[in-house]
Amino acid sequence: MDKPNDLMEKLVSLCKRRGFIFQSSEIYGGLNGCWDYGPLGVELKRNVKNLWWQNVVTSRDDMVGLDAAVIMNPKVWEASGHVGGFADPMVTCKNCKKHMREDHLDLCALCTVPSIPETDFDSEAEALDRFEPNFQQDVFLLHQSSSLEEIQSALRRHLGSKRAKLTVRGAVIFAKDGNKSYLLERKYPAKKSELLEFNARCPYCGGELTEPRKFNLMFRTHCGAMEDSSSVAYLRPETAQGIFVNFKNILDTQRLKLPFGIAQIGKAFRNEINPRNYTFRSREFEMMEIEFFCHPSQADQWYQYWRKARLDWYVNLGLRSDRLRLRDHEDNELAHYAVSCADIEYAFPFGVSELEGVANRTDFDLKQHQECAGKDLTYYDDQTKERFLPYVIEPSAGVDRSVLAFLCEAYTEDEAPDDKGNPQKRVLMKLHPKLAPIKAAVFPLVKKDTMPEVAHRIYDDLKKRWNVFYDEKGAIGRRYRRQDEAGTPFCITVDGQTLQDQTATIRDRDSLKQDRVAIDKITNYLSEHLGN
Ligand code: GAP
Repeated sequence: MDKPNDLMEKLVSLCKRRGFIFQSSEIYGGLNGCWDYGPLGVELKRNVKNLWWQNVVTSRDDMVGLDAAVIMNPKVWEASGHVGGFADPMVTCKNCKKHMREDHLDLCALCTVPSIPETDFDSEAEALDRFEPNFQQDVFLLHQSSSLEEIQSALRRHLGSKRAKLTVRGAVIFAKDGNKSYLLERKYPAKKSELLEFNARCPYCGGELTEPRKFNLMFRTHCGAMEDSSSVAYLRPETAQGIFVNFKNILDTQRLKLPFGIAQIGKAFRNEINPRNYTFRSREFEMMEIEFFCHPSQADQWYQYWRKARLDWYVNLGLRSDRLRLRDHEDNELAHYAVSCADIEYAFPFGVSELEGVANRTDFDLKQHQECAGKDLTYYDDQTKERFLPYVIEPSAGVDRSVLAFLCEAYTEDEAPDDKGNPQKRVLMKLHPKLAPIKAAVFPLVKKDTMPEVAHRIYDDLKKRWNVFYDEKGAIGRRYRRQDEAGTPFCITVDGQTLQDQTATIRDRDSLKQDRVAIDKITNYLSEHLGN
């Protein structure tokens, strides 16, 4: 099989090696869908959250913050529709017992082609256009995030051939079995009717699948000493409801006028059927949510505003705009509470997937809570003398998905000279300086002639303002490489010349350019280049 895009594998390995992300409770074999952020990861994640907060709360005068409890009165989740409806359709393989989300299964059509092309294709559509293949009924089932190995096994099972072999050409997968060549067309997502029509079998073992059944994603627990139905509580599956139930409190205490928003960052929990793709789909994750309240007549205008504002935020922090897109939901995709919704999607190495949703939730939530709690949640406009339930626009982002997108974007391989000036392969994380966990590293070139003392003084000075790192161990080239992998934008080196003229070199992570800067100007230099 041709080498798959192994960027994710390399990234996961770097994140472990450098202390960005670890498997949760790893020494016990881990826990599926749960992750721990190590010393670098926690800084990166904190930077993401702080930058979001600064962008949507502290730099604006129409937004306030909130930190609501994770466990809320269970009636909240009845009113919001989560107890009744927050469920995914699950199918189970009767043979291998694997559970799968039905809407995460793809039908894969085998299209006969004359031969496997030598050229890459940007999309399946492009390849299908070229070959105009004939396929129709010859389909088998894949999971949306099946690896190439899993696809090859499913194909071999389907064809009843042990020789069938995959070849990847850009975004398209081809296969060869003896003298037959195929193009694999993914038709997604599979619908129940299609699964039955094609008698589709388990993508992992070929076993028979059960009928889809609803599986509620909320984690249940009990509040208090009694574990009976009266004490059932839930870990919140979104932070949004904490905002809706505090709407009146905030209105009454903050003297706010519409339009205004309430923002919250916090943990959310979903018992996902198939946590996959590293941290992308986890069972415990963090959200950054805004509920922006406005007059119903202004909802569409604010909806348009937030779609653009949120997309721009990612671009300004370094995600390439050609890897981002806004995708409007089809009518049948819309959540029960929304009249319009768009996903901000990013081209992750494992496919284009959702980073954030921006939805017009109308007055659905306030109306539900008003009815269920029996409390007036209307807003009174002193000027127009109008009393009404505001509409709400909700930009809802995942912290972990943002972190993952920034990590994927940052991962770079290039060449840089080693200590002897010979070009060597190097791995670097080109994180935006505002996101970088460590802003600068300070090194004495060698451990003698007072270089360590001078370097330590620079470090102590910078430490008052930024997260900086001091390292005097090992060859200088190796110290640079460690910082490149940590995403540190600048390395400051104290050398022989420093002792003569009180200057040090500052090396730029990306360009490798070195500037010689007077020691007393280093803070200014960093401030200018880091943008804070
Ligand atoms: N309040 C709206 C809401 O919860 P959502 O689309 O279900 O909407 C919003 O979730 C965001 O939360 C998603 O765009 C994604 O970034 C993040 N998210 C959702 N489920 C997740 C999971 N299992 N793991 C990591 N992030 C998740």
